[in-house]
Amino acid sequence: MKSNQRNHGGLGVVAAGVLVLLLPIISPGLFDPLSRSSPSLFSEWNAPKPRYLHLLRSALQRENLTWQQSDFWTPLVDQGWRPCVDSASDPSALPNKSKGYIQVFLDGGLNQQRMGICDAVAVAKILNATLIIPHLEVNPVWQDSSSFTDIFDVDHFIDVLKDDIPIVKELPHEFSWSTREYYGTGIRHTRVKTAPVHASANWYLEKVMPILESYGIAAIAPFSHRLEFDNLPANIQRLRCKVNFKALIFVPHIRALGDALVSQLRSSTRQNEALGTNYLREVTDSKDKQGGGKIVVLHLRFDKDMASHSACDFGGGKSEKLALAKYRQVIWQGRVLNSQYTDEELRNQGRCPLTPEEIGLLLAALGFDSNTRLYLASHKVYGGEARISTLKKLFPLMEDKRSLASAEKMAKIQGKASLLAAVDYYVSIYSDIFISASPGNMHNALVGHRTYLNLKTIRPNMPLLGQLFLNKSMTWPEFLDAVVEGHKKRQGQIRIRKLNQSIYTYPAPDCMCHS
Ligand SMILES: *[C@@H]1O[C@H](CO)[C@@H](O)[C@H](O)[C@H]1NC(C)=O
Ligand SMILES: *[C@@H]1O[C@H](CO)[C@@H](O)[C@H](O)[C@H]1NC(C)=O
Ligand SMILES: *[C@@H]1O[C@H](CO)[C@@H](O)[C@H](O)[C@H]1NC(C)=O
Ligand SMILES: *[C@@H]1O[C@H](CO)[C@@H](O)[C@H](O)[C@H]1NC(C)=O
Ligand SMILES: *[C@@H]1O[C@H](CO)[C@@H](O)[C@H](O)[C@H]1NC(C)=O
Repeated sequence: MKSNQRNHGGLGVVAAGVLVLLLPIISPGLFDPLSRSSPSLFSEWNAPKPRYLHLLRSALQRENLTWQQSDFWTPLVDQGWRPCVDSASDPSALPNKSKGYIQVFLDGGLNQQRMGICDAVAVAKILNATLIIPHLEVNPVWQDSSSFTDIFDVDHFIDVLKDDIPIVKELPHEFSWSTREYYGTGIRHTRVKTAPVHASANWYLEKVMPILESYGIAAIAPFSHRLEFDNLPANIQRLRCKVNFKALIFVPHIRALGDALVSQLRSSTRQNEALGTNYLREVTDSKDKQGGGKIVVLHLRFDKDMASHSACDFGGGKSEKLALAKYRQVIWQGRVLNSQYTDEELRNQGRCPLTPEEIGLLLAALGFDSNTRLYLASHKVYGGEARISTLKKLFPLMEDKRSLASAEKMAKIQGKASLLAAVDYYVSIYSDIFISASPGNMHNALVGHRTYLNLKTIRPNMPLLGQLFLNKSMTWPEFLDAVVEGHKKRQGQIRIRKLNQSIYTYPAPDCMCHS
């Protein structure tokens, strides 16, 4: 995302003209919207109130559906596509001698780094080189210093790819000088600084191979989005898929925590008290082996950065508008294209991220009743508890990792944005339904991964929703019909990758075979 690439040193600038320089060193946990003890550091909004009372009243009175009534829980039908990443790789096809070492330094959050890792494996393969476990840079926004090994199961990674490329955890002694510090302190011959965005395989053969041949090592940084999606041999594409969908798994303690969350969400004990016997019987009758409980994961990114960058009005009144405009001015110095449009124009174009209230209304209109187990995959929500409360009224059984996991289990990942995101990613993969309130790296990564596994994923129709929410005279039944109609084809139907589109978002046809 564009907004991730700039310097977030300005994060400490808060509205009302007060410079709170403390902010960057405060643990992100403090902004946790669901933490009961969040101190109110910001006073820039008058607690955002519901904006769509006319719809909300009806949504709150919507009926509880019986199991069979909601089509939504039925899995996607077989669409004729299968995961297909195992190239017939034959270890003897590996070159006898590696051309040297490829080292990459990856920016961005967890999901951008994930794509970078897949591309790094592909580049090492193109060059017949040995890959050093990628170095993950500390992101200025998320401030997590977790390394590859802290997040991903490194032995699994090396093992799954052993017939494809050689991978080493550390450089041999003779190259131990090739460090981040070394490249940070001077111009170095072994540093590749100029890889163009979406560079071709030939670019690497022409520009990086000579460096490998002369020095035995090439360090590529920046490396995000530095390998094209088209014109690559099928075996290289397959390899990228194999890395993404097979080689990259999280460390055991993240998987264990994710499994525990999923099973807590699925177990009906929590819900038994709340549900009528009618529902229980249906759950028991169903052939579902997973404990009956079905889960929706809602990925909600609604932080100040994104709210401000979108230039939309989120109903927090004049003070919020001023605060966001000020933030935009400080961080982007007026270079936000969206700010030339009115809120109405932006909404009509579907360019406003959905607020928790809007996503709640969308889910309610799609047929999710108040017994739905909604898992909130989210880091922090601008507006905090006040902004979340409408969603929670619509979905009282809403949970998140902090509400479900014990303090003891959370302690290991507390304050570590990448590990927290990894847990959410894991739960998202195991949910029956995934929906995201805004496009972005996490959304794209999960849309891709769930497409690969043929799992249901709802993609909000943003322009439609923008128009519906602008129309204040719309009744609940009209809203409901329009929403249902507008999302029929947005539930995980296979979309074939088009030119320039990411193989990690659209895994068919490169990572999948048509049967
Ligand atoms: C639906 O179920 C919830 C939770 O059991 C209950 O609180 C609510 O009153 C029910 N709503 C209706 C309209 O029956
Ligand atoms: C890499 O190794 C394979 C197998 O030995 C060989 O066919 C290919 O030409 C090599 N590629 C490069 C760029 O050296
Ligand atoms: C690679 O090594 C194998 C076995 O040691 C040998 O048979 C083969 O000829 C070698 N290939 C090349 C291209 O040197
Ligand atoms: C608002 O919705 C109503 C009911 O669907 C419709 O008749 C009306 O044309 C809509 N207004 C606009 C401006 O789209
Ligand atoms: C794909 O990207 C290239 C280079 O960025 C651009 O020249 C081309 O027009 C794009 N094609 C499509 C179909 O978007």
